Amino acid sequence: MRWMLYGATGFSGKLIAEEAVRLGHHPILAGRSAAKLAPLAEHLGLEYIVFDLKNVEVIAKAILGFDLIFHAAGPFIHTSDSMLRACVLSGVNYVDITGEFPVFENTFAYHEEVRRLNLAFISGVGFDVVPSDCLASYVAAQIPNAAQLEIVIAGITNMSAGTAKSGLSLISYGGWVRRNGKLMPQPLGTGAKKFRFPGGELSAMPIPWGDLSTAYRSTGIPNITTYMSFPPALIASTRLGVSILQTMLANTAVRSFAENIMEKIVRGPGDDARQTGYAYLWAQAADSQGNSAQAWLETVEPYRFTALSGVHIVEKLLATRPSGALTPAQAFGANFVLEIDGTRRMDTLEN
Ligand SMILES: NC(=O)c1ccc[n+]([C@@H]2O[C@H](COP(=O)([O-])OP(=O)(O)OC[C@H]3O[C@@H](n4cnc5c(N)ncnc54)[C@H](OP(=O)(O)O)[C@@H]3O)[C@@H](O)[C@H]2O)c1
Repeated sequence: MRWMLYGATGFSGKLIAEEAVRLGHHPILAGRSAAKLAPLAEHLGLEYIVFDLKNVEVIAKAILGFDLIFHAAGPFIHTSDSMLRACVLSGVNYVDITGEFPVFENTFAYHEEVRRLNLAFISGVGFDVVPSDCLASYVAAQIPNAAQLEIVIAGITNMSAGTAKSGLSLISYGGWVRRNGKLMPQPLGTGAKKFRFPGGELSAMPIPWGDLSTAYRSTGIPNITTYMSFPPALIASTRLGVSILQTMLANTAVRSFAENIMEKIVRGPGDDARQTGYAYLWAQAADSQGNSAQAWLETVEPYRFTALSGVHIVEKLLATRPSGALTPAQAFGANFVLEIDGTRRMDTLEN
């Protein structure tokens, strides 16, 4: 099977390339910079192709004949649609590691077309959204008429420049939740709550995580709130801080200045942090009669998880050939996440 890793020179792209090689794969590396691709390809003993994402026909020609594209170049709000259109034109399966909910919505818009072509498009094959999507599907299956779904992510302590830049895009979108099946704006910094986790209680506030899109597809639950844990002091200052940031980021020059700063100062977790770090997730589905089901997941550090689950999904997709624009849990089931090293699911907590 021939597959291509586009955006291979990024922080996450390199980790995915290394994991692929560790498992005996030979993906073709790709990106827009030959100067960055050549040393990486040489180091890993792989071939590479250089093209940018400005012209769909050029991309379609570059990817023709491949079985799958692994898209790792974000923020995906700027990069994914041209690759999706090229994959339709050239008949190629597609996966990416987005966490941006508008990007998921766009990928799902291709569902009927992709199904007719007998291809699979799966956005979010990394830490966002594999564990949360699988956990949401697991609790939802226990409450047949669930009306509410809450998901909390805890333990992302260190991010890459690419994630920080994607976060800037999301700040511009503001806060969102899903209500009665529709995406609804909700000011960032409102709706914070405490949740039980191994080791004690954590404060978390609603953040428009990709599950606002994917968990709705996977579970059909019409009311979804996705939270991320933060220190209480940060939550308290967020509402004011975010509105100032949103005003500033509306200015293109300020935004590109902020993105340049991110590239220079944000480094992402180092080897030690990736090997020893971990994260927790919690999800609860509830119906209007007071029935509910909850569960927790423990995973390895999010960037390590992304490399492990991303390459595992490539293997599974090419072996099982699901079709349509799917969530990870729709394609591979709620227990898929348990196949990723270091993942543990808990129905109860001891503390
Ligand atoms: N789902 C998850 O859990 C998860 C996990 C990790 C990362 N991510 C997401 O993945 C993305 C990449 O993260 P990262 O950590 O690898 O970031 P990074 O280190 O900043 O790398 C970004 C990569 O994308 C390329 N790129 C950016 N814009 C491009 C464009 N317009 N055309 C072509 N290539 C472009 C960059 O190429 P140049 O070097 O040429 O600029 C670079 O190779 C981010 O959106 C991040 O949020 C998601």
